[in-house]
Amino acid sequence: MSAKKVNKIAVLTSGGDAPGMNAAIRAVVRTSIYHGLEVFGVARGYSGMIDDDIVPMDSKSVGNIIQRGGTILKTARCMEFFEPAGRKIAYENLSKRGINGIVVIGGDGSFKGAQKFSNEFDIPCIGIPGTIDKDIAGSDFTIGFDTAVNTAVEAIDKIRDTADAHDRLFVVEVMGRDAGYIALHSGIATGAENILIPESKTDMEAMIASLTEKGKRKKLVNLVVVAEGDEYGGGNKVGAILKERLPDADIRVCILGHIQRGGSPSCLDRLIASRMGYHAVECLINGDFNVMVGIEDNKMKLTPLDLAIKAKQNISEEWLKIVKILAS
Ligand code: F6P
Repeated sequence: MSAKKVNKIAVLTSGGDAPGMNAAIRAVVRTSIYHGLEVFGVARGYSGMIDDDIVPMDSKSVGNIIQRGGTILKTARCMEFFEPAGRKIAYENLSKRGINGIVVIGGDGSFKGAQKFSNEFDIPCIGIPGTIDKDIAGSDFTIGFDTAVNTAVEAIDKIRDTADAHDRLFVVEVMGRDAGYIALHSGIATGAENILIPESKTDMEAMIASLTEKGKRKKLVNLVVVAEGDEYGGGNKVGAILKERLPDADIRVCILGHIQRGGSPSCLDRLIASRMGYHAVECLINGDFNVMVGIEDNKMKLTPLDLAIKAKQNISEEWLKIVKILAS
């Protein structure tokens, strides 16, 4: 890796958007300007690098965005960037502007692209974990998770009201194709009876037995929170099984979907995004290359990108036990 000083950087958001990405862009741009670096915004993730959609940014261009969901740079999942030919075009577009450092705000797929790119070309990349799924090792937080969970909690509380009014059992599906964190946190916070997540096996028979017993006790509300990527294939499939096996229960399914990805970021997401964005630029200046900036135990933690890609966050058994005990 080159020892050349980084003086022109590009920032992009990639993969699924997450509330707080704008706060991170703002922090990257303003910290760069503070240090006298030139900074460019790349539109639509790696697609903009390939399509040459790269514009200079200044302090004003990131004004009035800290409170906004989505991403002003837009985002995409770009398959072309996973081909050597696509990465070569991207590199040419960066190098004709003299860009010699990149900050990628996204999830593990986006970091994989960054890792490949910086291995092939002499250009350092810093990753900022931005995904509502919180499925990246090396950070207690990912940008967007807190907002998404709070959105899910607000929605499930509302579902509880109507479930209570009708004595119904609700199956609520939350996002998380490969990760159960949104389901786990929102399920615990809303007092769900069962939480189904991809990381742990569900004993369907035990769940049906416990719901039958709760039905007999005339428990007022029964909520089952399911991550979209659980082993049964999400809320509709779980709902169909329960309808068949519990014919006397009045069952409804609600899929929360993309509302979890939008909205104004929570205070926590704005804070961690600001902190990570600031540190990402500091890393490029200090020569800490090809790392992800994370936060663990309230301290900044740098994880080599290749480790951040490989390792997953573990779901604590303690939480799963708490779910069982508190939902009785
Ligand atoms: O990666 C975040 C995420 O929201 C997942 O939880 C979800 O499965 C996926 O993105 C949905 O992606 P898309 O918006 O492309 O359907």
